[in-house]
Amino acid sequence: MKNVLVIGATGQIGSELTMKLRKTYPNGDIVAGYITGAEPKGELLESGPAEIVDITNPAQIAAAVEKYNIDTIYNLAAVLSAVAEAKPQLAWHIGVGGLYNTLEVAREKKCAVFTPSSIGSFGPGTPKVNTPQDTIQRPTTIYGVTKVTGELLSDYYAKRFGVDTRSVRFPGLISYVTPPGGGTTDYAVDIYYSAVKGEKFYCPLKPGTFMDMMYMPDALRAAIEIMEADPSKLIHRNSFNIASMSFDPEMIAAKIKEHVPGFEMEYKLDPLRQSIADSWPDSLDDTCAREEWGWRPQYDLEAMTIDMLDHLKSK
Ligand code: SER
Repeated sequence: MKNVLVIGATGQIGSELTMKLRKTYPNGDIVAGYITGAEPKGELLESGPAEIVDITNPAQIAAAVEKYNIDTIYNLAAVLSAVAEAKPQLAWHIGVGGLYNTLEVAREKKCAVFTPSSIGSFGPGTPKVNTPQDTIQRPTTIYGVTKVTGELLSDYYAKRFGVDTRSVRFPGLISYVTPPGGGTTDYAVDIYYSAVKGEKFYCPLKPGTFMDMMYMPDALRAAIEIMEADPSKLIHRNSFNIASMSFDPEMIAAKIKEHVPGFEMEYKLDPLRQSIADSWPDSLDDTCAREEWGWRPQYDLEAMTIDMLDHLKSK
């Protein structure tokens, strides 16, 4: 990996992944692809090239790939689960149409492609606890439908055209840099902001709603390590279960309370988010990722909470 195009570089994952890639590959061009209205700022803008790359515009993807002689594309454009339910056509257009555009450019220009899948690619018929790598994927959200389609399309391009596509199924991602927007797992980010501001947190999900979550530094490492993995060891490609922690609102609130004793949480349910969360697994089995490319998480709930609170306080 030398020259990389990050599509969605100013989003929740992209803003941090672009910076990490620039540090990891200092001799390459790491291009921040953004859309109008989400321009890069500060360090992200100053530390490397940036181009307008709307994933729904194949000519813009091809132009950036050509200009910088790109060998790897990180496709991070997505509409998260709750917003996607309000705008299903847009979710498909970006999630599947955008991926198709990306894969076509990658086929022609011989690029590797990373596209995240999600815990949202599973549905109510999936085994809920220790969800296996290869199991039933019949999601009931449009977000999940785009993710399963993306997994299949990416595997097809690998098999049919030899495009080096790889992916991980991300849990809910937690970070103190760029907030997520419109996801079902967002509460686990918002709760830290409320705690640090000294505000009561209104939790949109009920107690006992378990989902896999991950601290952003682990997620960034996973995205880079899967693309660096020895292809001869990969039995799977699109997409690998990865996991680091699973908790419900009660557990994260109790952990925050250990560090912010006055912290208070009240339940104010969001029926849409609750129904989405109820259709997703409680915890994934990530044995295949561990065996095939050496995946190991570094943060648990305790380590993440200390780091999140420290950074948000100084922010
Ligand atoms: N974080 C995403 C969401 O909640 C799941 O991948 O939509």
